[in-house]
This record gives sequence, structure tokens and C-alpha cells, in this order.
Amino acid sequence: MEKVLTVENLQVSFDTYAGEVKAVRGVSFDLEAGEILAIVGESGCGKSVTSQTLMKLNPMPPARILPGSKITLDGNDIVNASEKEMQKIRGNAVSMIFQDPMTCLNPTMQVGKQLTEAIREHKNLTKEEARKEAIRLLELVRIPNPEQRVKQYPHEFSGGMRQRVMIAMALSCAPKVLIADEPTTALDVTIQAQIMDLLLEIREKTGTGIILITHDLGVVASVADKVAVMYAGKIVEEGPVKEIFYRPQHPYTRALLRSLPTTETERKERLISIAGTPPDLLNPPVGCGFGSRCENCMKICNEEQPEQFAVGENHVASCWLLHKDCPPELRGGAK
Ligand SMILES: Nc1ncnc2c1ncn2[C@@H]1O[C@H](COP(=O)(O)OP(=O)(O)OP(=O)(O)O)[C@@H](O)[C@H]1O
Ligand code: SF4
Ligand SMILES: [Mg+2]
Repeated sequence: MEKVLTVENLQVSFDTYAGEVKAVRGVSFDLEAGEILAIVGESGCGKSVTSQTLMKLNPMPPARILPGSKITLDGNDIVNASEKEMQKIRGNAVSMIFQDPMTCLNPTMQVGKQLTEAIREHKNLTKEEARKEAIRLLELVRIPNPEQRVKQYPHEFSGGMRQRVMIAMALSCAPKVLIADEPTTALDVTIQAQIMDLLLEIREKTGTGIILITHDLGVVASVADKVAVMYAGKIVEEGPVKEIFYRPQHPYTRALLRSLPTTETERKERLISIAGTPPDLLNPPVGCGFGSRCENCMKICNEEQPEQFAVGENHVASCWLLHKDCPPELRGGAK
């Protein structure tokens, strides 16, 4: 399979009055064409900063990519690309869908016009050809009656439909990588499921690689091929979706899965929570970031960053419990 994205040792900091916020602290992963990678983890762990950096969307300053970071997206060296080069890459190799569709839709312009303009920016088409392509994209995202709909304005669409239009906009450049950051959080459950089905269909039809950021582990289980679990600016565990759900190795992943509500009532009543809070990224701990919340914490955990261990096929986790010399009675479920 063609690798469309490789991220190696990505480090991103924010220079603030209080000091350097180390938001992303050495993240590595890759993505193949047609693959869906889910990035999960508690609020503030660096999911959005990581994905925005792939498109260099975060304002620099205050954001800063640290030396030694490497991002290769569809053959492009993102870290060293100029803003002019990035504009081209954003329009052709990678696009993003956001939680709020209105961030990328113009309320004063007909939806069809916005789409045809976006299409003509990337492809050398006549107005009529672009109009046809706009209708094809609206059909692809399952907007009923697209010939009529192109004449309407964004406010005439429902929330779910606006989300579909935004996805159509994102697909107008046939991106190699599509980033979806909490694309359905603002929508009700039925519409969420439809949008997820749509992402699966798009992957099938276009072969685009998708990075899906979500708090919803149920969604992850049903659509992702592989999962990266982030904690305090690092990926602490990564592997195929089945491995992560059935053989989680990192105490944080296990805690996340335990906190998953099992019934619809629980889902409504209980917010996902793990006792304690993540470390302050202004002063991250010398050792394991999860140490203060981990029931298996050992002396070495507070002194040294855990190494990354291979724990299965394409499955890695960073925790001292997985070291070959760690006594089995301390492992608490890790194999
Ligand atoms: N402009 C900024 N200035 C300073 N710190 C920032 C800035 N943007 C993000 N951060 C910090 O970077 C860290 C990672 O933030 P990020 O938005 O990536 O979290 P997230 O995992 O996407 O969380 P959520 O699930 O809430 O969306 C957080 O500690 C956040 O406070
Ligand atoms: S390295 Fe130590 S503190 Fe960190 S998750 Fe593993 S056991 Fe817990
Ligand atoms: Mg976010």
C-alpha cells in the first residue's frame, strides 16, 4: 500500500507568557492510502495541535515546530515548506473537516457557487464542467436533489447537511489525506452515524487516507483501522483497532476503555472520566506523564520516560510494565 503520510518525532510547542507549553512531545505515526487512523485521548492531549500541524494551520508564532520533527505528506516535506508551498499542498494533498461547518462555508454565497469555485481552484475545468463536478460531489456525500440544492445558501441546509457540504468541499481537491477533527460532536446521534458511514464510503470510493479525531470510542471501534492513543502530547499506544480494544497494553488505554459507558443510559448520565488530571504541559514530568494517575506506577516511571515496546503485530506501547525484566506480578494485565 502507498504511504501517504509519515510523521516522525513531531514536537510542537507554544511560546506563551507563562513559558513554553510543550503540546506535542515526539509523535510518530504513518498513514496508508485508504486507511482510517483514529486519534483518541482526553481533552488537551494534543490531538488538534498534531493534526493542525500536518497542514501548518496553527499560527506560528505562538506555535513552533521543534528541530528534529519530520512530516512527509504525499511526498512533500511539510516542516520545511514555505507558506506559498503550503497553500498548494493544502489545496491538493490534504484537507480538513471541522466540527463547525460554518468555519469553511460562506453564508452569503450559494452552496453550488462555493463548491464550483473550490473545484476550479484545483482543476482546470470550465464553469459548466465544474458545476457538474459540484453536483457529483454533492451526490457522493448523499445530498438529495443536488441540482436544486446547489442554488441554496448554507443556512437553508440542516446541520447534518451542512456537514456533508463541508465534506464535499474538502473532497473537491481529491486529497490524499483527509483530516476530520471531531466532525460530528455537534450533531445528534443518528446524524453522527450517517456521517461516519459517509466517511467509510468516501474511503472506499476515493482511496483517501483519513485521520479521525474523536472522543467517541464507539465510533472508533466501528470505523477505524488503527488507533493512536495520545496522552500529554505523546502517543502512548498504537495498534490495529482490534488489538487496542481486545488487548490494550498501556494502563491509560485500559483506563479509557474502562471508562467507556456500556449502556445508552450510562452514556447520557456519565461523562468519561479517569481519576486525576493530566500533567501541566508547561512543566511535563521527567518520567511517564501518566505516573501520577497510574495504579501500577513504579520508581523508574517517575525517573525515566518509558521506552516504546512492540507488543503485537504493528502494535506498540510505551510503558515500563512491558519491559522484559518487569516482574509479572506488577504488570496488572499488561502482557
Ligand atoms: N494557542 C495556544 N497557546 C498555548 N497553548 C495552546 C494553544 N493551543 C493549544 N494549546 C495547548 O496545547 C495542548 C494541546 O491542545 P489540543 O487542542 O491539541 O488538545 P486536544 O487533544 O485537541 O483537546 P480537545 O479534545 O479538547 O479538542 C493543550 O495543553 C492546549 O492548552
Ligand atoms: S510507565 Fe509506569 S506510570 Fe507510566 S503507565 Fe506504565 S506503569 Fe504507569
Ligand atoms: Mg481538539
